[in-house]
Amino acid sequence: MKLLEGKNCIITGGGGSIGRATARLFLEHGANVVLVDIAAPAGFEKERDRVVTVEADVSKAADAERYVAAAVTRFGAIDVLFCNAGNFGTVAPIEAYPEEVFDAVQAVHVKGTFLAAKHAVPHIRNGGSIVITSSVAGTRGDPGVYGYITAKHAQIGIMRCLAKELAPRGIRVNSIHPGPIDNSFQKSVEDDLGRIIGRDGTQFFDEIIPLGRHGTAEEVAMSVLYLASDMSSFTTGTMLMVDGGMSV
Ligand SMILES: NC(=O)c1ccc[n+]([C@@H]2O[C@H](COP(=O)([O-])OP(=O)(O)OC[C@H]3O[C@@H](n4cnc5c(N)ncnc54)[C@H](O)[C@@H]3O)[C@@H](O)[C@H]2O)c1
Repeated sequence: MKLLEGKNCIITGGGGSIGRATARLFLEHGANVVLVDIAAPAGFEKERDRVVTVEADVSKAADAERYVAAAVTRFGAIDVLFCNAGNFGTVAPIEAYPEEVFDAVQAVHVKGTFLAAKHAVPHIRNGGSIVITSSVAGTRGDPGVYGYITAKHAQIGIMRCLAKELAPRGIRVNSIHPGPIDNSFQKSVEDDLGRIIGRDGTQFFDEIIPLGRHGTAEEVAMSVLYLASDMSSFTTGTMLMVDGGMSV
């Protein structure tokens, strides 16, 4: 069964690991996709008739307007908005955490999600779906992770406001909360952590994840598909953990 037949979907961070895996799954399920990233995502040439790629910075209002316009021009109304672009920032004690890094991380996750919704919502069909990639980091604190953890908590605030505001139009809004995923984004976090704690950062995470392993981008994509599609038609304002039990 195809779950997104003929649906028009915007994916930010569409050039990254989770974004690409989600795009592939959405395409398998019959969707048209608009992939937004800092550098236009490559590798979708075969699906040219159902894929638009846009080079854009999600933290800039003019870019948000432009990628939404590209989606509307090519496909008409929007059915699914997946706000997924992300950067990590750094880890440092509060007195040493650089202000400009803090701002840069909020700009992508928080302002980027705000701008995506602000510009896309007028074009989202009644009954559509917005999915926001937060993180297990949106549900817990850890020393020194000021930019990222703050941003991932803030996305839940946007998600909840949108869920209530858009419910009268039947537009559902939910967040997903991946735990550590086996990809380069997480690997660089773990390499840094490993240097701080003096042991293998990847192994450290495997030990605190009840399922005992990292997730895959494809596993996250399946949760996004569920929230994007009518399979979750009575689910809005919720936080879906995709974290191997790490938040329990
Ligand atoms: N990898 C993990 O373990 C993990 C865990 C929890 C949550 N997440 C979240 O998942 C999302 C996707 O991350 P990923 O793991 O696929 O990493 P990734 O680095 O492969 O993908 C992130 C993408 O966002 C893009 N991006 C960054 N800043 C941007 C900007 N200003 N404008 C447009 N695009 C921008 C990057 O170019 C990249 O392609 C992020 O929001 C991340 O915080 C990841």
